[in-house]
This record gives sequence, structure tokens and C-alpha cells, in this order.
Amino acid sequence: MLWTRDKKHMKKMSADCKQVMKVVSLYRKVQEEIVMKVIVLKDYDEVSQKAFEVMKEVISAKKDAVLGLATGSSPIGLYQRMIKDHEENGTSYAACQSFNLDEYVGLSRDHAESYYTFMHENLFKGLDMKEENIHLPYGNTKEDCEAYEKAMEHVTVDIQVLGIGANGHIGFNEPGTPFTEETHIVTLTEKTRQDNARFFDNDIQQVPTHAITMGIATIMKAKKVLLVAAGANKADAVKAMVDGKPDENWPASVLQKHDDVIVIVDEAAASKLNA
Ligand code: GLP
Repeated sequence: MLWTRDKKHMKKMSADCKQVMKVVSLYRKVQEEIVMKVIVLKDYDEVSQKAFEVMKEVISAKKDAVLGLATGSSPIGLYQRMIKDHEENGTSYAACQSFNLDEYVGLSRDHAESYYTFMHENLFKGLDMKEENIHLPYGNTKEDCEAYEKAMEHVTVDIQVLGIGANGHIGFNEPGTPFTEETHIVTLTEKTRQDNARFFDNDIQQVPTHAITMGIATIMKAKKVLLVAAGANKADAVKAMVDGKPDENWPASVLQKHDDVIVIVDEAAASKLNA
């Protein structure tokens, strides 16, 4: 059983009720309201499986899809399924391009905790993507940011994968980031550095203080957004994203303004949502 939820309705639906979902979406659009589809599943495994199905649909429809990719623990289950599907079913990514959301400032690309390394270890080394089609932002200057925007100038991201920070950040767009920002350098909050210290021997001093990130305006240009979250520590952020008003203090809430967003969360991450 899965739960699907837009801002005002929650309906218990069996997995084969996609048609009903479509009708609900159309109905909401007629009313000129933007639908945020929220699917609540039992656990991380189910979340990852559903996220994979959404991804597979995009890849199957467009061999040269442009993928917007995220790091963090949230998309790992999705990435594992993409690799398995590539190995077992030959789904090819050879014509795809990818653009990652963000990267730490001050770590070399071959650092064990750079997002460049993370993506190669957790996804790219298991797929047939061409290295020249893989893009991650890098650097700490205005020119580095402009270069990344320029690299994306002539493409439209077909599907943007997102996780969400416990404080509601997407990419590394921390609370207070204007929704109009494009790729920029950010100062990471203490909260984000604490959350990410687990990758740096639990030592916050080792966590970089800055990052380069696609801005919210950059993220919002994607055709489709797929956000995955699991765990009770994401419950406040998920609530603000879904039940709150768009608010720069909760960056992910901007997604309410996007017309094709699918949020897939486990029960723990959904535990604070309005019924
Ligand atoms: C990092 C990344 C985000 C990610 C977030 C959540 O700060 N920059 O893109 O969404 O962490 O990470 P996790 O999925 O590990 O909880």
C-alpha cells in the first residue's frame, strides 16, 4: 500500500492507482493550484525502489536524458538500483549527461569525501556514462560559479534528484538563501557541518566550511524534481516543505512552486505531516 498526498488531500491508494493520481493532478491543475505529489512508504528500501521506478521511466523515455544528481545517504538506494538495472537489463546511460548539485570547497577532487569521489564510487563506476558527460561544480570563485551555469546553459535537466538537509536545505542552499540565486559559494551552517561530520571521523573541524552549489533558481529549471528523504531527523524539514508556505528559511519549500515534483519519503520522515 502506498500513500499519496498533495497539499490538502491524503488518499490511501493501492500501487496500481497511478491513473487516479493522474486524474487528481489534472483536476488540481485545472484549479490552477500546483500539486506537490508526496508518496509515503514504509521504509528506506521502499522509498529507494519507488525512486528508481520514477528514474527508470525518465531514462526509458529519453536515452539522452540530462540527470541532475545529488550526494548524501538518501539517494544511495536509488543509485544501487540504477547500477543493478544497468548490469541486469542493460539500461544504458551512454548518451546521458549529468550535472551534480554541489561540492565542498577546499577538498581536492580525489579526496575520499569529495562529492566527485562519492559520485564515482556510488554511481558512475557502475554505469556506462562517459566521463566527459559527467559534470560537478568545482572551485570557490565567482568565475567557477559562472562557468557551471554556462555549462548548463544549453541543457534542461530532465530529472533532478534531491535529498533534503535536516534544516531544509537542498543542494547546499542553506536557510535564508534567496530563491533567485544561481550557482554560488555558500558558508555552511553549523548544523549542516555537524550533520556531515559523520563522514569526517565525527570531527566537525574536518568538515569544510564552504561549498559551491547550484542555486535554487538553477534547481527550479529542471523539468521534474524527485526528492527522497528517510528518517525522523528529516521530519521537520519535510513538514516545512510540504505543509508550510514557500519560505526562504526552509529552502525546500520552494518546490511548492514547481509543477512537477515527486516527494518520496518513509513513514518516519513523514511523521509530522498534517493528516
Ligand atoms: C548534504 C548535501 C545535500 C543532501 C543533504 C542530506 O548536505 N549537500 O545535497 O541532500 O546533505 O544528506 P543525507 O541524504 O545524507 O541526509
